[in-house]
Amino acid sequence: MTELSNSAAVIRDYDNRHYMHPWEVMSERGNANRTISASAEGIYIYDQNGKRLIDGPGGMWCTQIGYGRREIADAISEQAMRLCYHSPWNTASEPSALLAHKLAELAPGDLNTVFFTTGGSTAVDTAIRFVHFYNNRLGRPNKKIVISREKAYHGSTYLAASVTGKERSKSWFDVDNERTHLLPDVNPNLRPDGMDLDTWCDMKVADLENAINTLGPDNVGAFIAEPILASGGVIIPPAGYHKKCLDVCRANDVLYISDEVVTAFGRLGHWFASEDVFDIVPDMITCAKGLTSGYLPLGACLISDRILEPIQGEGQDGVMFTNGYTYSGHPVSCAAALKNIEIMENEDILGHVRSVSPHFLERLNALSASPIVSETRGIGLVGCVEGHLSDGKEDRLTSDLKFGAKVDEKCEELGLIVRPLVNMCVFSPPLVMTKAQIDDMFDILEQALAAVEKEVAA
Ligand SMILES: Cc1ncc(COP(=O)(O)O)c(C=O)c1O
Repeated sequence: MTELSNSAAVIRDYDNRHYMHPWEVMSERGNANRTISASAEGIYIYDQNGKRLIDGPGGMWCTQIGYGRREIADAISEQAMRLCYHSPWNTASEPSALLAHKLAELAPGDLNTVFFTTGGSTAVDTAIRFVHFYNNRLGRPNKKIVISREKAYHGSTYLAASVTGKERSKSWFDVDNERTHLLPDVNPNLRPDGMDLDTWCDMKVADLENAINTLGPDNVGAFIAEPILASGGVIIPPAGYHKKCLDVCRANDVLYISDEVVTAFGRLGHWFASEDVFDIVPDMITCAKGLTSGYLPLGACLISDRILEPIQGEGQDGVMFTNGYTYSGHPVSCAAALKNIEIMENEDILGHVRSVSPHFLERLNALSASPIVSETRGIGLVGCVEGHLSDGKEDRLTSDLKFGAKVDEKCEELGLIVRPLVNMCVFSPPLVMTKAQIDDMFDILEQALAAVEKEVAA
């Protein structure tokens, strides 16, 4: 494996002194002891000491085809030499046109128009700005409130953060509260004892309907939902939930934005999960991450013909959709995405996900045998293990909160990266993971849970 060009000590020092990371823990700023990712191949990352680690979270839910694919590196290099950049304001390019066409082919229903962005947050921002533009153009300037849900994560730009429902992402920041509204948690496990899933589902759909009625249908522009709440803890809504929500939206002329930044490009065994898994054709889909398998940054907001038709063409003289990024449709990122999709097609990676997912879920669910595991949840190739560490000495919340961190620490010692999220660990490995590698991953998780359990007992 490639070695670092500088010593680990120098990198860590520069990193600590000059690099502010996403979600930086401010008390640790300048003194963090982060693992240095030095190189990677397949499903493995190698650290500064050459130690091999299974990439449990798939980077940040994005390394679908795995690391080190020469074909993508070549496609990137060729495109960089042919045309590294063009202004998307004034000219078209071959890779961005081909990719837009390909995405329109893969997307459900009439979602035939693609607005390229730089990642997931800017895709969500674009979708929300489109809602504003759309209703302004239709002469409904008040129809702007976007309804979202507790535990949802939609990104880190101002608008995307405003519709995010994770408490901690708002604790220290201001957001647009005027034009956003959050519905209560949809997690089926929160339903009262004895309540069946269908009743819970109807209650959650009623939350949306009641909110639209209370806020006033003339004031509500859109509903945004991840098919599964990913970083909110892999929360899978009850069957039929999305379809019923879409019906409520249609009845109230409210647009439905399906945020597929995590679920698209194979995570649930399909190009997009909206229709193939949840039976809905939304008005907009946002995606990013797996679109390039993380080789380069790129996001997209897909828009349906139905909502574009009334606001384009005849009668729209002088009107501009004044939303755009210098790197919208970046030709090199688009070339990477095209090659990524080609590889996924040629190697039937979606079929592979569907075939190994039952084994993945079986091994995931078996983790509930550990006395410190409260629950496991999963679908496709994404999973979450939620636990508790109460030892009677600390208050329950404080000790439970350490669960994710402790399991992560043990896993890393044993050669696996997981993503700690308070009292949970989530994983969404590269989609090319084989059945044997799935076993390696869960063997390590079992050992880590046993070690943490022993430590707590001691
Ligand atoms: C569902 C969802 N939407 C949007 C985003 C934001 O994407 P990005 O970090 O690429 O801006 C994320 C990131 O994790 C996400 O999970």
